[in-house]
Amino acid sequence: MDLVSKQKKTLFYKKIKKDILEKEYIQMTWTVNENCIKCKYTDCVEVCPVDCFYEGENMLVINPDECIDCGVCEPECPTDAIFVDTDERSKAMNEINKELSLEWPNISKKKQCFSKKEQDKWAKVKDKKQYLSKKPAPPEVIKE
Ligand code: F3S
Repeated sequence: MDLVSKQKKTLFYKKIKKDILEKEYIQMTWTVNENCIKCKYTDCVEVCPVDCFYEGENMLVINPDECIDCGVCEPECPTDAIFVDTDERSKAMNEINKELSLEWPNISKKKQCFSKKEQDKWAKVKDKKQYLSKKPAPPEVIKE
């Protein structure tokens, strides 16, 4: 999706979100937690209608201002790494999502980030916050 289309789409959904918030139906967003670290399956980005995921070296984050709270990404994650920001398990990562989403590149297509074996190995590891890299994802190498 080009930048202008993304901005138009985000504005459209933000308007809907604002309308909903004004009616006080919901007041939350979604957050990627430490379960994503060193797994980065990226199934979540395929279903996001507003492309609000951003990619770091070993995990993704969600930009809370772009997220429209639809929740379609949550069931897609094989490691249960996406919770609402009000969930206890998200609290340590809410600020990190906000901060790093402003520094990391956008990701809107699923890709194989690590070997399946590595991903599945790290999916079983708990307390991974110590392994969080704040570096952005390395640029894609485009093969001619
Ligand atoms: Fe991470 Fe799960 Fe998405 S592991 S990249 S939040 S599918």
